[in-house]
Amino acid sequence: MTETHDEKLTGIRACVFDAYGTLFDFASAAAGCADVLGQKTGALTALWRDKQLQYTWLRTLQGNHADFWTVTRDALEYALDALDIGDRALTDRLMSLYLNLKAFPEVPQTLRRLKSAGLKTAILSNGTPQMLDAVVSNAGLGDLFDHVISVEEVGVFKTHPKVYQLAVDRLGAARQEMAFQSSNAWDAYAASAFGMRVVWCNRYGQRPERLPGKPDRQVRTLAELIPILGL
Ligand code: LAC
Repeated sequence: MTETHDEKLTGIRACVFDAYGTLFDFASAAAGCADVLGQKTGALTALWRDKQLQYTWLRTLQGNHADFWTVTRDALEYALDALDIGDRALTDRLMSLYLNLKAFPEVPQTLRRLKSAGLKTAILSNGTPQMLDAVVSNAGLGDLFDHVISVEEVGVFKTHPKVYQLAVDRLGAARQEMAFQSSNAWDAYAASAFGMRVVWCNRYGQRPERLPGKPDRQVRTLAELIPILGL
C-alpha cells in the first residue's frame, strides 16, 4: 500500500505528530492486562479506541467538552461493560497503563534524526497536558520534542480547525511549512484540508477516507519520513 513518490516534501520547517496510535501504541495498555483480559484483549483495545474517538467527536459537536482523560475513562467503562468484564481495579489499572504506552520502535531514532537536521518537532494531540507529559517522559522521549501541544488550550477536539491552528500559532511556521504525521486517517485528511503537508502513517492498513483533504504521502512507519524529507 505504500505509495512511491520520487519528489521530496520540500520547504518543511517543523514536523508535527499525532500522539495516540502514531507515536504511542494504544494497544499496549490492554496488552498489559492480558493476564485478566485473555481472549478479549484485542476486542477491548478496538472498542475502547472507537468509543474514545466517537466521544471526542460527539462532545465537540454538542459543544460539551470534557477533557481527554475523562473521555478515555468513559470510553473504557463503556467498553468493559459491553464486553462483560472489569471492575474498578481493572479500570484504574488500564487508565494507569494509558500513561505508560509504548512508543512504536522507530520513533526515538526518527525524532533524533529530525532534530539533528534542525527541524522543529511537536506533538499535537487530543490528550491533556498531564497525559502527554506522562506518556512522553515514561517513553524516554522528553528531550525530543520542542513543543507538546494539547487541544485543552482551545477546548475542542480534532478535527476542529482551531486545533490545527494551535500548531501554526505555537510553532510560528506557515501551514505548508509543516509536515503533519498521523496514523488516524481522519486526522491526516483534516490536517491536509487545513493546509498542512501530511504524511499519513497508515500503520493499520486503513482504506482512504472519503473526506476533504488529501495526504501528500502514505507510509507504513515513521522511519519513512526521513527519506521523504530528503534527510
Ligand atoms: C490524538 C489522537 C487522535 O493523539 O490519537 O490526538
